[in-house]
Amino acid sequence: MNTNKALWEKGDFTRLAECMRDSGEALVAELGVTSGLKVLDLGCGDGTTAVPAAKLGAEVLGVDIASNLVAAGNARAQSLSLANCRFQEGDASDLQELEDDSFDLGVSVFGAMFAPRPFDVAREFVRVTRPGGRIVMGNWIPNDPTLVAQVLKISAAYSPPPPEGFVSPMTWGVEEHVIERFGDAGVNERGISFLRDTYTFSYPGTPAELLAVFRTYYGPTMNAFEAATAAGREPDLQAELEALFNEQNTSASSDATSIPATFLRVTVAL
Ligand SMILES: C[S@@+](CC[C@H](N)C(=O)[O-])C[C@H]1O[C@@H](n2cnc3c(N)ncnc32)[C@H](O)[C@@H]1O
Repeated sequence: MNTNKALWEKGDFTRLAECMRDSGEALVAELGVTSGLKVLDLGCGDGTTAVPAAKLGAEVLGVDIASNLVAAGNARAQSLSLANCRFQEGDASDLQELEDDSFDLGVSVFGAMFAPRPFDVAREFVRVTRPGGRIVMGNWIPNDPTLVAQVLKISAAYSPPPPEGFVSPMTWGVEEHVIERFGDAGVNERGISFLRDTYTFSYPGTPAELLAVFRTYYGPTMNAFEAATAAGREPDLQAELEALFNEQNTSASSDATSIPATFLRVTVAL
């Protein structure tokens, strides 16, 4: 069994993605996407960044390991009549179905960071992006005090230890690792730049209700609750996460939640 694929097919990430659409659109608006630009969205989910890029006229391919999210992306593109946006199954660690130098812009927002074998991910991303093109990644930052880094940290504390040799996805949020991985793929450090950016989770309900969405549909949180329940610690995990979601909420409305989360935006010029 491919545990990486199983993790993301387990839940339904579209339910979380619905809370992230505005930030996806805002990020894409800053990437200089023009009509006809060939864009790869790696670990695209149901197209939070792929769809806005296609709306700007780019020729977009979304690649994701989860078949349910690929199907959801294609359904979204179809319902929006975006013939220039298609989604297919693939693994960011091994993009064998894609030819060298196929894309002008590679995007991966909280996507490729979750693939195993990060050095292979960097090599494959560089291989399929043309010289003179760009890669933009959004990566959560380890130990960052904001929402997602804390959800993943708390979830990990209730989950069984990962198998030997497992490389944490959060290492993609550390500049030295990013430089090392793209350096191994032949990219000069001078072509790699970093900035701290923000994604906001917007939900039409209370923070506890947003947590319920994570608990029911987000693979890493689902697994943590399963492990915590088996260990009789489910109330502790629920309380810890509920406190986190309440603390981080910036909405003044009692029936809306707005939680900004910090990430590392990586731009690689090839
Ligand atoms: C947190 S979601 C982000 C999805 C999307 N980029 C977005 O912004 O909504 C992580 C995504 O990475 C995908 N993913 C995880 N491992 C992958 C891999 N090895 N290859 C391709 N996609 C992968 C998951 O299926 C999931 O859609």
